[in-house]
Amino acid sequence: MTLVLKVDPQHPQPEIIARAAAVIRAGRLVAFPTETVYGLGANALDADAVAGIFRAKERPAYDPLIVHLANADQLSLVAVHVPALARRLAAVFWPGPLTLVLARADHVPLAVTAGGETVAVRVPSHPVARSLIAAAGVPIAAPSANRFGRVSPTRAEHVLADLEGRVDIILDGGTTMIGVESTVLSLVTPVPTILRPGGVSREALSQVLGTVEVAEQTVIEGETVVSPGTTEKHYAPRAQVILYRGERTPVLQAMHEATLRYLEAGETVGLLLAEEDLTAFSDLPVALRGLGSAKSMSQIARQLFAALRSLDEAGVSLILARDFGSAGLGLAIRDRLTRAAAGRVVTVAKDVGTDCA
Ligand code: TXA
Ligand code: MG
Repeated sequence: MTLVLKVDPQHPQPEIIARAAAVIRAGRLVAFPTETVYGLGANALDADAVAGIFRAKERPAYDPLIVHLANADQLSLVAVHVPALARRLAAVFWPGPLTLVLARADHVPLAVTAGGETVAVRVPSHPVARSLIAAAGVPIAAPSANRFGRVSPTRAEHVLADLEGRVDIILDGGTTMIGVESTVLSLVTPVPTILRPGGVSREALSQVLGTVEVAEQTVIEGETVVSPGTTEKHYAPRAQVILYRGERTPVLQAMHEATLRYLEAGETVGLLLAEEDLTAFSDLPVALRGLGSAKSMSQIARQLFAALRSLDEAGVSLILARDFGSAGLGLAIRDRLTRAAAGRVVTVAKDVGTDCA
């Protein structure tokens, strides 16, 4: 049985938090909002509890979990050595959407780290997450609270849709603010390396770090596009996603033409666009989703996952999505859409559209 408890996102009620914290201490599972997405939490120091997360999500054991701490002082609980750089980043970005990969302390169960000698940690800023970790009195391991391979949840209803009957309590604190997951930054590589772009931008990290690398599988402006079929399907709705990259005008034109072709072929089509793009498609019998203004990557990020889910609910067979560049949160948005598309990316040249599909 899954119990959904409404909680005030800014001032979480202590009695509700205490109830959820007791469930964590008992080795069971609680889904809770963070500033990025909802997490599926268990006591990070209890290997059996952590195994419960993998079962509930149907997540393969090779994919390690992020450990959530109440504050940076708890770093030494989970990391064997805390480099000065980690302290500096923590001072700037915590609490917030930055995950640091460090060397694991011995008592962190190998279930958390997928057998590896590193551990990923972050201090979330969401008041519900913070008070839950503090009340539980233990670090909380939490992946995104979706079934493995599916779109991360930004609302309690999304968690319920994926995990009903598999989680003891869902704390419903409304819609999450950032909407894409934390940036995962490795500090065990020779140069700090972004393993997953997310809520803290590459630019913001560069200001503190000077140089920061971005791991290869991430797609950056002008560089290799992940080839079709080679990407693990991830962040994926049921519908096939195709991502269109390039300048706005030719991209919208290529998307319009492609939509007509797909409709003719009998597909039902959903379009993921900026608000200001919608009018260009109002003549078509499609499901339109405007994510917010392309001038605000934070608006787009906040609505991205809910829009993917809602297009699935609308029953479309195909989702054509527009790329939003790589500046700021744009990089994380591109990463998630590229993975959702499983590498099906169309790069549109200035005057001619080329379709790899
Ligand atoms: O915003 C977030 O990070 C959310 C909220 C709930 O905190 N959590 C989240 O967890 O997105 P999850 O499990 O869905 O994604 C964690 C990512 C995965 O890509 C995983 O491979 C990577 O972090 N990761 C975890 N531990 C790692 C480690 N020791 N080394 C390298 N990557 C690691
Ligand atoms: Mg996830």
